[in-house]
Amino acid sequence: MLVTVKRQKDPQSEPYLQSFFVEASPQMTVSALLDKLNYTDDLYDVKGQAAPRIRWECSCLQKLCGACAMRINGLPRLACATFLRDLDPRELLLEPLSKFPVVADLIVDRSIIEKNLLRARAYQGSYRPIDATDYPRLYSMAKCLKCGLCLEICPNYSKGEDFFGALFANEMYLLSHQSQDRRKELKKAYDRNFGAGCSKALSCVSICPMKLDTLSSMARMNRFSPEK
Ligand code: FES
Repeated sequence: MLVTVKRQKDPQSEPYLQSFFVEASPQMTVSALLDKLNYTDDLYDVKGQAAPRIRWECSCLQKLCGACAMRINGLPRLACATFLRDLDPRELLLEPLSKFPVVADLIVDRSIIEKNLLRARAYQGSYRPIDATDYPRLYSMAKCLKCGLCLEICPNYSKGEDFFGALFANEMYLLSHQSQDRRKELKKAYDRNFGAGCSKALSCVSICPMKLDTLSSMARMNRFSPEK
């Protein structure tokens, strides 16, 4: 398989494309293929030139941490959960997520996600009793990996602005069982940092690796009354 990687030495360097031939099988994931490339004694590109190891992030390799998010053949996906059998068998293009600053090769700085949640004070305050029928839904929302795929695919999200994207809507729903003052504050944050900027393209729903029901979070938050 011909694998092309968008490379960048450090945040200040110019990006460039570099291609490699790899012996791959359809059962491999993209992360396994990257490991195979990096574990060869010496890495050479298709022109026979020595190449530095490809830098990318991973932790769990089980679709649990979100670290391996990248663009795979033009679509944001998790490398450890993307199998070659589901992709074009002839060639593969790997690029870093485009909406976050590149650190090196396929590694990006996604700290803006946490900064935005802190900006909106999206963390637990004092809880009031939760209706037990809501547990399954809250559990499902808590599975968000904060991987950034929903931000990458969203036509309305661009870094540094006041629209925080789908993961924020889910987080707001997750936090909606709180004291009345906090509920008012969360509803304002939802309206300001999500409701006002969402154009309902809903690309976030189809790309989410955890299949979070963002549409339902949006509907519930749109009719959410802090007084009740
Ligand atoms: S390495 Fe954790 S989700 Fe891919």
